[in-house]
Amino acid sequence: MLIKKPADIPPSEITSETNFLNRRDFLRSGALAGGALVTTTAAGALVPDQRGAQLPGVTPGPFSTSETQTSYEDITTYNNYYEFGTNKADPFANAQDFKPRPWTISVEGHADKTGTFDFEDFIKPFDLEERIYRMRCVEAWSMVIPWVGIPLADVVKYFAPTSKARFVAFETLNDPEQMPGVRRPNLDWPYREGLTIAEATNPLPLLAVGIYGRAIPNQNGAPIRLVVPWKYGFKGIKGIVKISFTSTRPQTSWNMAAPREYGFYANVNPQVDHPRWSQARERRIGSGLFAGKQETLMFNGYGEHVAHLYKDLNLRRNF
Ligand code: MTE
Repeated sequence: MLIKKPADIPPSEITSETNFLNRRDFLRSGALAGGALVTTTAAGALVPDQRGAQLPGVTPGPFSTSETQTSYEDITTYNNYYEFGTNKADPFANAQDFKPRPWTISVEGHADKTGTFDFEDFIKPFDLEERIYRMRCVEAWSMVIPWVGIPLADVVKYFAPTSKARFVAFETLNDPEQMPGVRRPNLDWPYREGLTIAEATNPLPLLAVGIYGRAIPNQNGAPIRLVVPWKYGFKGIKGIVKISFTSTRPQTSWNMAAPREYGFYANVNPQVDHPRWSQARERRIGSGLFAGKQETLMFNGYGEHVAHLYKDLNLRRNF
């Protein structure tokens, strides 16, 4: 079920995430009840192991839009995360007991630095930035989300891929104990995604660890997920446990499931329709019942930063 905020609430009153968290998350988990206060003493990312905890040391990053932000409630209750069910309300309902700690991320393939890292060690070398991005789902709805994360380009450079690395592949945790959806063959698990090295080293993509200044909720991909604002939302793989530098193009989940409908590139493109619906317009979640649809922008409005990546590519064929 989609929880909508009434259209007549002014934006100044929709930052209800604190109340929402108090009500739903803090009470539920008992988090913060006796929790230690985390202060930032050193440079580098620090994500407290507490549900919904405020993230310390976040600085405003570049590329943020000033468009009205989608409410915390909409961002965290209207989700796609098939590991927790296929309906939009399922991830919120089914991911509350998911454990995003302890968490390890393995870095593999053609890179100078590889290995298996605790989440905390993995993110420590980087700085946390807030970036407010327009997000466009392939299903023709959109949101504006204030992410907190580390630039993927910094992560890629840190692990120093070799000249053989042409792609970066990502995988989600595949745990039937915690993820009821992977007991069904809706997709070929684990969820997989990938980018070219040029895309992964573009300054826009983030590995996100927070929303609205707080640790990212389970249903949005805790503890760490990909955000690529010029591509359809399915590229934004959640709950990442593996990053591989590969010489060949990796298999990606939706492309494997329906190759005629979902491509590897998945760049937002209002001129190339999905075989079953138009991509020309989109419904902004939370904009109110009578707001109508808005025009979808080429590359979701990020063309000045990314169009050069595709100048020699036929975008109709490489959708
Ligand atoms: N990642 C995993 N592991 N499993 C999924 O089903 N769904 C994708 C993407 N990442 C998905 C995933 C899709 S289709 C979308 S639109 C976005 O997550 C939605 O992200 P959000 O729920 O945080 O808005």
